[in-house]
Formats: sequence, C-alpha cells, structure tokens
Amino acid sequence: MSSRFSCVEAAPPVEIFALNKAYKEDSFPDKVDLGIGAYRTDEGKPWVLPVVRKTEKALSEDETLNHEYLGQLGLDEFSKAASRMLLGEDSPAIKENRTLGVQTLSGTGALRVGADFLARCANFTDFYMSAPTWPNHRLVFMHAGFKNCHTYRYWNPTKRNLDFEGMLQDLENAPEDSVIILHACAHNPTGVDATQDQWKQIADLIERKKLFPFFDCAYQGFASGDLIKDSWAVRYFVDRGFELLCAQSFAKNFGLYNERAGNLTIVAKDPEALVNSRAQITLLVRGNYSNPPCHGVRIVSRVLNDPTLFAEWQGHISEMSGRIIKMRAALKQKLEELATPGNWDHITSQIGMFSYTGLNQQQVKYLVEEHHIYLPKDGRISICGLNTKNVGYVAKAFHAAVTKFPSSL
Ligand SMILES: Cc1ncc(COP(=O)(O)O)c(C=O)c1O
Repeated sequence: MSSRFSCVEAAPPVEIFALNKAYKEDSFPDKVDLGIGAYRTDEGKPWVLPVVRKTEKALSEDETLNHEYLGQLGLDEFSKAASRMLLGEDSPAIKENRTLGVQTLSGTGALRVGADFLARCANFTDFYMSAPTWPNHRLVFMHAGFKNCHTYRYWNPTKRNLDFEGMLQDLENAPEDSVIILHACAHNPTGVDATQDQWKQIADLIERKKLFPFFDCAYQGFASGDLIKDSWAVRYFVDRGFELLCAQSFAKNFGLYNERAGNLTIVAKDPEALVNSRAQITLLVRGNYSNPPCHGVRIVSRVLNDPTLFAEWQGHISEMSGRIIKMRAALKQKLEELATPGNWDHITSQIGMFSYTGLNQQQVKYLVEEHHIYLPKDGRISICGLNTKNVGYVAKAFHAAVTKFPSSL
C-alpha cells in the first residue's frame, strides 16, 4: 500500500534559506552572503547586543523567575511597552485605552494573528500587498483565510524609486474593506519609503475609500537609528483617528531573531470595541500555539522598561543603522570609482537593511556562480553582508556583472 502522503504535491524551497544553505556549503574563501536579512558586524559576524547579553545574565540569576506558562496574550508588561514604543508615550490611543497589545511569535506571528483575526472574526476577504513585497505577506494572509490577494504598484524599475502614482491608482481601485499591508519603514525588499507628504496622501485615500490599514513594522530603530522617525507613519495614522493593526518584530532591532519576540497592536475607535476582540484573539491563540514563549520578550521588556538599559540599547540601534548607512555610501563610492555603467544613487537614497540594486537575473546568476556572492534573483542585497573588507570585492564583481551583461535600463 502506498503512503497516505504520496498525494502531497511538491513545494518550492524558500529561496532565501536555500541561498543561505548554498553559501554555507561554498568553500571559496572570499564568498559573500548578501541574502539573509540579519545584522553582521564589520567582521562579518552575528552580533549579540551587549545590552541583551547583560540582561540575559541578570535574568538567569533572578531566582524569582520561573518557567510557568504565560497567558494566551503573553507577557503584559512586554506588550504594553512594545505598543508604547510604537505609538509613543503620549499617543491618544494609549491614553484613551483604545489599544490592545498581544505578544506574538515575532513579526510573522503578529501578522498571522492579526490576519487570522481580521479574516475569521471581522470578515475581511481581500488584502493588498506592495509589488514587490516580502514574500511571506501572501503566504500568511492566504493561510489565515483571506480569499483574494491583490498587489499595488510600489517599485518603479526605470527610476528605481517609489511608483507613487501607480500605488495610488491601484489603491483607488481597491474594493471597500480591503486590508492594505503597509511597511511602516525600511520597505522590504526595495528600501524605498514614502515621504511624509506621500503618507498623508495615502492616508487620505485609505480613509476616503474605506480601506483598512495593517502596518508591518519590522525595522523600528534599525532603519534610521531613531525610534520616532521610523514609526512616524503609524503614529500619523493613529493621530488621525484610524483604526488599524500593526505587527512589530524585535528580531532586527534587538538581534533576537530566533527568540521570536513580537507584538501585535490593535488600535480601535473606542475601548469597548476591544473587549470581544481580546476574547476572540485569546481563542485564536489557544487553538494555534496555546501560549507564547517568554525568554526573548523578558529581555525586551526589561530593556524597554528600564531607562538606563533603554539608553544603552538606543546606542546599539544607532551603531547598527550607522554601519549600514556607511556601507551604502562605500558601495556607491566604489562603483562610481570603477565607473560602473548606470546610476547608483539609489544605493544611498534607500533605507534600512535592504537595497534593491536593479541587477537583473542574469547578472545575479553570474555573481553567484562566478564570484560566490549570494543574493536572491530579484537583485535585493542585504547591506549588512557588506563590510570594509569585502565591499571592494563586491563592487568589482557588480562592475563585471553589469559590463558583461549590459542591462536594458
Ligand atoms: C517586511 C517584514 N515583515 C516582517 C518580518 C518579520 O520577521 P520576524 O518574523 O523574524 O520578526 C520581516 C523580516 O524579515 C520583514 O522583512
């Protein structure tokens, strides 16, 4: 008798993890990983933030702590601090008790709990994600039970910037009650964000067309080093009185990738509207993973709730964002010194971990196969993979790729 699973269809590998595996298996000494979205030091090493290390030590010595279950909605002091970090201490929504924070399994888990809630409890059926976007948006929302996935234009490949007109046109045509996924800052994969003036126009349109904003905030503080600047768009929407959801990740800004520390903030028009929502989300979590893990969020909670640790952490986020900004400038400078064909201004005008280089698939293939530089097919690079030792090598390889396979752009 054949296996009950012989009917299971083949599924494609997750590109970014397949790429990372190939990088790890490559024995070339000068190989470079520009794929995975994780911070690296100038020595090319992962970084455990010193404030995280210090807090972990304090936690391990704290005999008052134990490993009892958390409730379905997680560690309250963490999610309250996370929502305050997102919206600001003085947020009208927080003062008026119109927010609900739910600890989740990092940013992806926040998106999933939020999408489950919207699809199953609030009857939303359609969602819009930017084109291109972080590929998990589609998976998360479709698995949560949304019926229709749409995209709105975002990237202008010719000008290598935001296709703002296209974005507005596509959102203009969205049916009422569509959920619009918006990257709060440091758009993945393009590194291109709307300006404040453009955000105002997006908010006008979302309000007029009765759409529903769902922010994805995976890089607060990591993008510019400034927590307020990186959450400007979310705060602006809240100040205007929108109801919204926002997924927060502490993977990048705390370097807590595998601890799965995240938060979902729901902002409603009045506190009563949140009573049933809280009860329904409790059941959603109960029927999914029952309750979340504690270690990562204990660290975040201690740091966010202690002014001295908080100041130390702010130093770390400026250091990480500062190194990324320097590496952008270094790559652009090297490409210009080599007189590499094309305009490379976008490398420095983009923000955050990623740059959408504009390299095409043939050029990317050549970089991987001939130069051992690993990046996904869409030409996105993680700037964190660059350092003072390899940026010259990478620039020369880009130069060779662009010269050997001239792009039509
Ligand atoms: C746009 C975006 N959203 C969400 C996430 C969530 O990541 P995590 O689940 O590791 O917090 C990421 C991470 O790469 C991201 O780039």
